[in-house]
Amino acid sequence: MDNNYSISQVADMFNITANKIRFYDKKGLLDPIRQKDNEYRRFTSRDIVRLQAILLYRSIGLTVGDIKSILDNNEKENCLTHLSNQWEFVNNEIHRLSVIRSSLENVIDKLYEKTKEYKIDSDVLDIIKSSQELNKIKNNWKDKWDFNNWAKTYDKSVEADKGELKIYKNYKLILQSVYDLVHNADFLNPRILEIGVGTGNLAGKFLSSGYNIIGIDQSREMLSVSKQKYPKLKVRLGEFLKIPYENNSFDVVVSTYAFHHLNDVEKVIAIEEIIRVLKDRGMIVIGDLMFKSKEDEKSILKGLSKDKIAEIEDEYYSHINFLEDEFNKYNKKLEYKRIDEFNYIIKIQ
Ligand SMILES: C[S@@+](CC[C@H](N)C(=O)[O-])C[C@H]1O[C@@H](n2cnc3c(N)ncnc32)[C@H](O)[C@@H]1O
Repeated sequence: MDNNYSISQVADMFNITANKIRFYDKKGLLDPIRQKDNEYRRFTSRDIVRLQAILLYRSIGLTVGDIKSILDNNEKENCLTHLSNQWEFVNNEIHRLSVIRSSLENVIDKLYEKTKEYKIDSDVLDIIKSSQELNKIKNNWKDKWDFNNWAKTYDKSVEADKGELKIYKNYKLILQSVYDLVHNADFLNPRILEIGVGTGNLAGKFLSSGYNIIGIDQSREMLSVSKQKYPKLKVRLGEFLKIPYENNSFDVVVSTYAFHHLNDVEKVIAIEEIIRVLKDRGMIVIGDLMFKSKEDEKSILKGLSKDKIAEIEDEYYSHINFLEDEFNKYNKKLEYKRIDEFNYIIKIQ
């Protein structure tokens, strides 16, 4: 017969209070035996293993409800959902706090410059206000194209290329060109990040050639399709505006057909994020829908049908001269190659 333990023995074992154990029991997380004579709880080794799991899950911030769901339904998809939600929460908090930290640093620097007396000062308040706005933009990006819904049919629709603009007519060439630019660059075992990895077509190319690549995407369904196609591909939930990695983590950042889902204000923040996670001598290669400039866009739109213009205006094609100015702020040089009417590849180093 299995050894069993009293509530105080279990509490001692984990250095927690007996009340905490009673709480988990009341919430249905534990199922101890009740002694016949006095109804006292007795815990088996199965309960001990379960309690250890509960405490560890709590330590990474899972709620009692999450833990109950994981313990009651141990299917992989269910666990992945709870853990991904928590990962997203933690990543959001890291980004929110990091914006607050740098705003505090700026405020403190400003205060050092002041005389002894402190009056509420507009330049100090402006710093705090702009950090608030930055957090708002970072958290307000929404997927208005519903990529989760598109994930399962994405590859087929790229092949069919039914849109008016035929933006996918050079899809394979664009992915291959991005791959070649990285492959021919001077990196030894580069660590590569792909943003907006989608169904994994570009990351899969790198993976099959033995590259160390991680793909992030804001769509769980896209990630799940890419994982089905390339089980060994490392993927994470993540957005351009809140890249879930530390500073200086990657030698190369690549992205295809994804950057045009950000407007110009968001692009500026995304560029800052990409530069943040890129190593000093790192390289960025983006294949996407662009115009050379606003003037170039105007003259191209003049010759297009209403339907085509509507298709363009549903997204945010970049202006290369705008991106060039932004990357220059980080002493990075942008080179571009036109692939067809709307598709360009830019290389930034
Ligand atoms: C048109 S698909 C392109 C997928 C893939 N890169 C390719 O070339 O086939 C755009 C992808 O970018 C992702 N995406 C769009 N906006 C994003 C954002 N702000 N952060 C991360 N991923 C994003 C979408 O979820 C989708 O998977």
